[in-house]
Amino acid sequence: MGRFLTVLLAACFVAATAGGQTTGNPVTETILSGYSARMFASEPVSDSDIDLILRCGIKAPSARNSQSWKFTVVRDDALNGSIIRDFAPGNVLIFISGPESGQQGSFVDFDCALATENMFIAAQSLDLGARIYGGPVGQVNQEKREELEIPEGYRVISILRIGHLEQGVDAVSSASTRKSMEEVVNYRD
Ligand SMILES: Cc1cc2nc3c(=O)[nH]c(=O)nc-3n(C[C@H](O)[C@H](O)[C@H](O)COP(=O)(O)O)c2cc1C
Repeated sequence: MGRFLTVLLAACFVAATAGGQTTGNPVTETILSGYSARMFASEPVSDSDIDLILRCGIKAPSARNSQSWKFTVVRDDALNGSIIRDFAPGNVLIFISGPESGQQGSFVDFDCALATENMFIAAQSLDLGARIYGGPVGQVNQEKREELEIPEGYRVISILRIGHLEQGVDAVSSASTRKSMEEVVNYRD
Protein backbone atom coordinates (compact mmCIF):
# COMPACT_ATOMS: atom_id res chain seq x y z
CA MET A 1 0.00 0.00 0.00
CA GLY A 2 2.85 2.38 0.93
CA ARG A 3 4.57 1.63 -2.37
CA PHE A 4 1.31 2.28 -4.27
CA LEU A 5 0.91 5.66 -2.58
CA THR A 6 4.49 6.62 -3.43
CA VAL A 7 3.95 5.75 -7.09
CA LEU A 8 0.65 7.63 -7.14
CA LEU A 9 2.19 10.76 -5.62
CA ALA A 10 5.10 10.58 -8.05
CA ALA A 11 2.65 10.27 -10.97
CA CYS A 12 0.68 13.28 -9.70
CA PHE A 13 3.87 15.33 -9.45
CA VAL A 14 4.94 14.43 -12.99
CA ALA A 15 1.47 15.26 -14.33
CA ALA A 16 1.42 18.60 -12.52
CA THR A 17 4.79 19.68 -13.85
CA ALA A 18 4.48 18.28 -17.38
CA GLY A 19 4.55 20.78 -20.23
CA GLY A 20 6.82 23.27 -18.51
CA GLN A 21 5.83 25.54 -15.68
CA THR A 22 2.93 27.33 -17.33
CA THR A 23 0.18 24.76 -16.85
CA GLY A 24 -1.92 25.72 -13.88
CA ASN A 25 0.30 28.66 -12.98
CA PRO A 26 -2.05 31.67 -13.02
CA VAL A 27 0.73 34.26 -13.23
CA THR A 28 2.50 32.80 -16.25
CA GLU A 29 -0.86 32.00 -17.87
CA THR A 30 -1.90 35.66 -17.50
CA ILE A 31 1.39 36.94 -18.91
CA LEU A 32 1.51 34.50 -21.83
CA SER A 33 -2.12 35.00 -22.85
CA GLY A 34 -2.07 38.78 -22.30
CA TYR A 35 -2.28 41.44 -24.97
CA SER A 36 -2.81 45.17 -25.27
CA ALA A 37 -6.55 45.66 -25.64
CA ARG A 38 -8.00 47.88 -28.37
CA MET A 39 -11.73 47.24 -28.07
CA PHE A 40 -13.08 48.46 -24.74
CA ALA A 41 -16.68 48.32 -23.52
CA SER A 42 -18.52 51.23 -21.92
CA GLU A 43 -18.86 49.63 -18.50
CA PRO A 44 -17.37 51.25 -15.42
CA VAL A 45 -14.42 49.54 -13.77
CA SER A 46 -15.09 49.03 -10.07
CA ASP A 47 -13.24 50.98 -7.39
CA SER A 48 -12.22 47.70 -5.74
CA ASP A 49 -10.55 46.47 -8.94
CA ILE A 50 -8.69 49.79 -9.34
CA ASP A 51 -7.65 49.61 -5.69
CA LEU A 52 -6.21 46.11 -6.12
CA ILE A 53 -4.46 47.10 -9.36
CA LEU A 54 -2.88 50.12 -7.63
CA ARG A 55 -1.66 47.95 -4.79
CA CYS A 56 0.07 45.74 -7.36
CA GLY A 57 1.72 48.85 -8.85
CA ILE A 58 2.93 49.97 -5.45
CA LYS A 59 4.38 46.49 -4.87
CA ALA A 60 6.74 46.84 -7.85
CA PRO A 61 10.46 46.79 -7.12
CA SER A 62 12.37 50.07 -7.46
CA ALA A 63 16.00 51.10 -7.33
CA ARG A 64 17.08 51.44 -3.71
CA ASN A 65 13.39 50.95 -2.91
CA SER A 66 12.93 54.64 -3.73
CA GLN A 67 9.24 54.22 -4.76
CA SER A 68 9.38 57.68 -6.22
CA TRP A 69 6.28 57.18 -8.35
CA LYS A 70 2.88 58.85 -8.04
CA PHE A 71 -0.31 57.40 -9.49
CA THR A 72 -3.09 59.71 -10.64
CA VAL A 73 -6.39 57.92 -11.29
CA VAL A 74 -8.70 59.76 -13.69
CA ARG A 75 -12.33 58.83 -14.29
CA ASP A 76 -13.29 62.03 -16.15
CA ASP A 77 -14.50 60.64 -19.50
CA ALA A 78 -14.31 64.00 -21.29
CA LEU A 79 -10.76 64.70 -20.09
CA ASN A 80 -9.61 61.14 -20.80
CA GLY A 81 -11.22 61.31 -24.23
CA SER A 82 -9.17 64.41 -25.04
CA ILE A 83 -6.00 62.37 -24.44
CA ILE A 84 -6.83 58.91 -25.83
CA ARG A 85 -8.64 58.42 -29.11
CA ASP A 86 -11.65 56.05 -29.07
CA PHE A 87 -11.90 56.40 -25.32
CA ALA A 88 -14.84 54.38 -23.95
CA PRO A 89 -16.84 55.88 -21.07
CA GLY A 90 -16.19 54.02 -17.84
CA ASN A 91 -12.58 53.26 -18.72
CA VAL A 92 -10.01 54.53 -16.25
CA LEU A 93 -6.67 56.15 -17.00
CA ILE A 94 -3.84 55.86 -14.49
CA PHE A 95 -1.07 58.39 -15.02
CA ILE A 96 2.23 57.12 -13.63
CA SER A 97 4.55 60.02 -12.77
CA GLY A 98 8.06 60.46 -11.44
CA PRO A 99 9.95 63.45 -10.02
CA GLU A 100 11.01 65.95 -12.67
CA SER A 101 14.29 66.52 -10.90
CA GLY A 102 15.38 62.88 -11.30
CA GLN A 103 19.17 63.07 -11.47
CA GLN A 104 20.98 61.78 -14.50
CA GLY A 105 21.47 58.06 -14.15
CA SER A 106 18.53 57.74 -11.79
CA PHE A 107 16.14 54.88 -12.35
CA VAL A 108 12.88 56.84 -12.12
CA ASP A 109 11.70 55.88 -15.62
CA PHE A 110 12.70 52.28 -15.06
CA ASP A 111 10.89 52.12 -11.70
CA CYS A 112 7.73 53.70 -13.13
CA ALA A 113 7.81 51.23 -16.03
CA LEU A 114 7.93 48.31 -13.61
CA ALA A 115 4.95 49.70 -11.67
CA THR A 116 3.09 50.19 -14.97
CA GLU A 117 3.75 46.60 -16.02
CA ASN A 118 2.67 45.23 -12.63
CA MET A 119 -0.66 47.04 -13.01
CA PHE A 120 -0.99 45.98 -16.67
CA ILE A 121 -0.67 42.33 -15.66
CA ALA A 122 -2.88 42.76 -12.58
CA ALA A 123 -5.69 44.25 -14.71
CA GLN A 124 -5.52 41.31 -17.13
CA SER A 125 -5.57 38.84 -14.25
CA LEU A 126 -8.90 40.42 -13.23
CA ASP A 127 -10.26 39.79 -16.77
CA LEU A 128 -10.03 43.47 -17.61
CA GLY A 129 -8.48 44.94 -20.73
CA ALA A 130 -5.38 47.12 -20.40
CA ARG A 131 -3.14 49.16 -22.67
CA ILE A 132 -0.03 51.21 -21.97
CA TYR A 133 0.25 54.58 -23.78
CA GLY A 134 3.48 56.48 -24.30
CA GLY A 135 2.43 58.46 -27.38
CA PRO A 136 0.39 61.16 -25.62
CA VAL A 137 2.85 61.64 -22.71
CA GLY A 138 4.73 64.59 -24.24
CA GLN A 139 1.57 66.58 -24.94
CA VAL A 140 0.09 65.68 -21.54
CA ASN A 141 3.18 67.00 -19.77
CA GLN A 142 3.10 70.19 -21.81
CA GLU A 143 -0.59 70.97 -21.66
CA LYS A 144 -2.60 68.93 -19.17
CA ARG A 145 -0.63 68.39 -15.99
CA GLU A 146 -2.57 70.98 -14.02
CA GLU A 147 -5.97 69.84 -15.23
CA LEU A 148 -5.06 66.23 -14.43
CA GLU A 149 -3.81 67.29 -11.00
CA ILE A 150 -0.45 65.59 -11.47
CA PRO A 151 1.49 66.35 -8.25
CA GLU A 152 3.67 69.47 -8.33
CA GLY A 153 7.21 68.72 -9.50
CA TYR A 154 6.24 65.44 -11.22
CA ARG A 155 6.10 64.56 -14.90
CA VAL A 156 4.00 61.81 -16.45
CA ILE A 157 6.06 58.84 -17.61
CA SER A 158 3.38 56.44 -18.78
CA ILE A 159 -0.38 56.15 -19.03
CA LEU A 160 -2.27 52.93 -18.35
CA ARG A 161 -5.79 52.47 -19.67
CA ILE A 162 -8.01 49.95 -17.96
CA GLY A 163 -11.49 48.92 -18.97
CA HIS A 164 -13.85 46.05 -19.53
CA LEU A 165 -13.24 44.24 -22.79
CA GLU A 166 -15.70 44.47 -25.64
CA GLN A 167 -17.45 41.09 -25.78
CA GLY A 168 -16.47 38.87 -28.66
CA VAL A 169 -13.00 40.28 -29.19
CA ASP A 170 -10.67 37.48 -30.10
CA ALA A 171 -7.65 37.67 -27.83
CA VAL A 172 -5.55 35.54 -30.17
CA SER A 173 -6.12 37.71 -33.23
CA SER A 174 -5.66 40.84 -31.11
CA ALA A 175 -2.26 39.76 -29.84
CA SER A 176 0.87 41.00 -31.58
CA THR A 177 3.46 38.45 -32.57
CA ARG A 178 6.76 38.09 -30.79
CA LYS A 179 10.27 37.41 -32.04
CA SER A 180 11.35 33.81 -31.66
CA MET A 181 13.46 32.57 -28.77
CA GLU A 182 16.28 31.96 -31.28
CA GLU A 183 16.27 35.63 -32.32
CA VAL A 184 16.47 37.15 -28.88
CA VAL A 185 18.04 34.60 -26.55
CA ASN A 186 21.56 33.31 -26.51
CA TYR A 187 23.06 30.99 -23.97
CA ARG A 188 26.71 31.49 -23.21
CA ASP A 189 28.48 28.14 -23.45
C1 LIG B 1 6.24 52.12 -23.45
C2 LIG B 1 5.04 51.75 -24.29
C3 LIG B 1 4.37 52.75 -24.98
C4 LIG B 1 3.24 52.42 -25.73
N1 LIG B 1 2.56 53.43 -26.36
C5 LIG B 1 1.42 53.14 -27.04
C6 LIG B 1 0.68 54.20 -27.64
O1 LIG B 1 1.01 55.38 -27.53
N2 LIG B 1 -0.45 53.87 -28.33
C7 LIG B 1 -0.87 52.56 -28.43
O2 LIG B 1 -1.92 52.33 -29.06
N3 LIG B 1 -0.18 51.54 -27.87
C8 LIG B 1 0.96 51.80 -27.18
N4 LIG B 1 1.66 50.78 -26.58
C9 LIG B 1 1.20 49.38 -26.72
C10 LIG B 1 2.12 48.61 -27.69
O3 LIG B 1 1.89 49.03 -29.01
C11 LIG B 1 1.88 47.09 -27.52
O4 LIG B 1 2.23 46.71 -26.22
C12 LIG B 1 2.71 46.28 -28.50
O5 LIG B 1 2.34 46.55 -29.83
C13 LIG B 1 2.57 44.79 -28.27
O6 LIG B 1 1.23 44.41 -28.40
P1 LIG B 1 0.58 43.37 -27.41
O7 LIG B 1 0.80 43.91 -26.02
O8 LIG B 1 -0.88 43.31 -27.79
O9 LIG B 1 1.26 42.06 -27.60
C14 LIG B 1 2.78 51.06 -25.81
C15 LIG B 1 3.46 50.08 -25.09
C16 LIG B 1 4.57 50.41 -24.34
C17 LIG B 1 5.27 49.31 -23.54
